[in-house]
Amino acid sequence: MKNLYLIGFMGTGKSVVGKLLSVKLGIEFVDLDSYIQSKLNTTITDIFAQKGEDYFRQLEKHFLNEISQEDNQVISCGGGIVIDQKNIDFMKQRGKIICLNASIDKILERTRNNSNRPLLNVENPQARIKHLLEQRSDKYAQADLTIDTTQLTPQQVAEKIIADIS
Ligand code: S3P
Repeated sequence: MKNLYLIGFMGTGKSVVGKLLSVKLGIEFVDLDSYIQSKLNTTITDIFAQKGEDYFRQLEKHFLNEISQEDNQVISCGGGIVIDQKNIDFMKQRGKIICLNASIDKILERTRNNSNRPLLNVENPQARIKHLLEQRSDKYAQADLTIDTTQLTPQQVAEKIIADIS
């Protein structure tokens, strides 16, 4: 089986759903942000603070490539992986792309209580979410399958994905 790439905005459930999905399918799970953090022995927040977003985007591309050398994995990606169209084209070659969506209110609720998302560490996170979603919507729309997770549990999302891909 080729890889399954989970994409979508912050707070749509990619990491939790990705882990569950991998258990149900009996294949490996890799969270790209966690992989980057362990490779560099630092946090995403520190990378943004010390080296900036552009540098983070280079790391993201590099490690997406590295992880994707193997097949049979569920890979959950950071929400900004789609900014570079080349990453989308690459994931399409290496497997299927599944996009998770959620309402702005739900994203806000799910991301409110942690400060480890530098892009949402702003005075008005709601406006920032809206703006980034607008900027990225054409990119997210290129997924092979899209699921709105607003009203669903991670279990239900994982089951829907399995029903759709099998
Ligand atoms: C980002 C999403 C984050 C992380 C970084 C940037 C984005 O990942 O990669 O903070 O640009 O949307 P999650 O989507 O897993 O929170």
